[in-house]
Amino acid sequence: LDNGLALTPQMGFNDWNAYGCDVSESLIKSTAQAMHTNGMQAAGYEYVNIDDCWMTHSRDSAGRLVPDPAKFPDGIKGTADYVHSLGLKLGIYEDAGTATCAGYPGSLGHETTDAQTFASWGVDYLKYDNCNNNGVPAQTRYTAMRDALAATSRPILYSLCNWGQDNVWTWGANVGNSWRTTGDISANFASMLSIFHSNVGLASYAGPGHWNDPDMLEVGNGSMTATESRSHFSLWAEMAAPLIAGTNIPQASADTLATLTNSRVIAVDQDPLGKQGTLVSSAGGLDVLAKPLAGGDVSVVLFNETGSTATISTTAAAIGKTGASSYALTDLWSGATSSTSGTISASVPAHGTVMYRVAGGTSGGTDVTGELRAVGADK
Ligand code: GLA
Repeated sequence: LDNGLALTPQMGFNDWNAYGCDVSESLIKSTAQAMHTNGMQAAGYEYVNIDDCWMTHSRDSAGRLVPDPAKFPDGIKGTADYVHSLGLKLGIYEDAGTATCAGYPGSLGHETTDAQTFASWGVDYLKYDNCNNNGVPAQTRYTAMRDALAATSRPILYSLCNWGQDNVWTWGANVGNSWRTTGDISANFASMLSIFHSNVGLASYAGPGHWNDPDMLEVGNGSMTATESRSHFSLWAEMAAPLIAGTNIPQASADTLATLTNSRVIAVDQDPLGKQGTLVSSAGGLDVLAKPLAGGDVSVVLFNETGSTATISTTAAAIGKTGASSYALTDLWSGATSSTSGTISASVPAHGTVMYRVAGGTSGGTDVTGELRAVGADK
């Protein structure tokens, strides 16, 4: 959506994956405070997002949504003021139907009132869900809220959550800043893997201001091991996905925080060229992905879907790099640097990922001084 927002994929937190309906002002405030001090804000996490279950079951006499006073004693406005005082932004959840997925009042037919209410509270981000939609076409419902948000004149990042229905990627760029491409993720490797497979082929639809959204991160949650969480984070970054942390932030382990704040991997996600990475090869559960970066570097992911250690190999030419006798590799998880005359290869543990930034030579016809040309070509 051409509203000046999400020129790189949005980064932040949302409570749903870790807490479900148990959202509250104290949870949002303590999460924001933790993000402010634990390195997440410095790493680029900006939005602190409230999901479903924040409101009461009926609108007020003026037709406005009402925050649950037990959960949000200072309202959404008071919560937003606190989040803003830390230099962070506040996101909220609503639904493009008659009720949210958890049964609270939806925005269908109330778009103008609700957008105005969100703006008056200082909301910076809207996740707009798809339950109870009475069969009204998604494009109609999601466009109505787009226009209502624009009419507020407040910059509000607009995240479409219609689960990949109606081929949303074919029309989403004109409607929202991102669109969910699949059903809900859950906190296990199989769910993450199936969403990766659904999202990876949609690269041509993504770009600055409009991203494919393979759903929020489960890093640190459920049965995801540290290795699996690093694969999840690597793949989402390589696919230029929104990075919305979904774990208990104040109590996150050192491993989880190290994964979520890896600046080398985040730089791939946030690369200004805004290209979603694509599969270079995939055989027997051994995947190679490449993502062109501004300035001519290429990010390569070697992902082992299988249950045993395997060697995964590709070449500089296969990822689009030619013209040099030697290329510099940076391992984005270990930080180690090395060089290669062409072969890019690693032993990758079960469910694991090795991720490199490859520099040198030319890339896709763009030499290392061709950054501006490459960025401009995408707009
Ligand atoms: C849907 C969305 C989830 C979450 C829940 C809340 O399932 O896809 O991300 O927002 O609703 O009820």
